[in-house]
Amino acid sequence: MNFLELSKQRYSARNYSSNMIEQEKLDYILECARFAPSAVNYQPWHFFIVKSDEQKLLVQQSYPREWFTEAPLYIVVCADSSISWVRKSDHKNHSDIDAAIATEHICLAATEQGLGSCWVCNFNSDMLKNNLHLAANMYPVAIISLGYVKQAPEKPSQRKAITEIVSTL
Ligand SMILES: Cc1cc2nc3c(=O)[nH]c(=O)nc-3n(C[C@H](O)[C@H](O)[C@H](O)COP(=O)(O)O)c2cc1C
Repeated sequence: MNFLELSKQRYSARNYSSNMIEQEKLDYILECARFAPSAVNYQPWHFFIVKSDEQKLLVQQSYPREWFTEAPLYIVVCADSSISWVRKSDHKNHSDIDAAIATEHICLAATEQGLGSCWVCNFNSDMLKNNLHLAANMYPVAIISLGYVKQAPEKPSQRKAITEIVSTL
């Protein structure tokens, strides 16, 4: 599978079978995240693996959706904005960008491994932080649901045409 095929094959999976992900696959996915680039190579991220029923419930409270409860595992991607690069000219902190790149590595690696994934950012951040007892300097950027998909969507989600999104200056 070339990169374009992989990019097209990934989609937001919103239904899952109860089959647990093999540990080797999870290790592989996390290794792909570890090799993501980050500004100044600061790697200001932490990945929390959530698979026990008790911990999953705590995550689900922050994003109460029926489909989300089906996933056998979540990866809560967190960033530490106190150790990430800040651009001097405008003080922009790059922790979100760094964490987002690693997050997409996770999703693409999962696709390659035959797994479904979905980015979730519409969670209650304060609730998630409290429920997982995250350190004050650590904030959740995304929750990724992971698992084997029961049924793929019939139609792929649409994208804007290349002419609409690319300009040569
Ligand atoms: C930053 C980000 C946040 C997202 N948050 C959510 C979310 O909270 N809930 C959800 O169901 N999907 C979420 N998604 C998935 C998007 O809706 C989805 O990627 C988009 O509609 C394109 O569909 P596709 O992923 O199937 O190609 C999010 C995606 C991104 C990149």
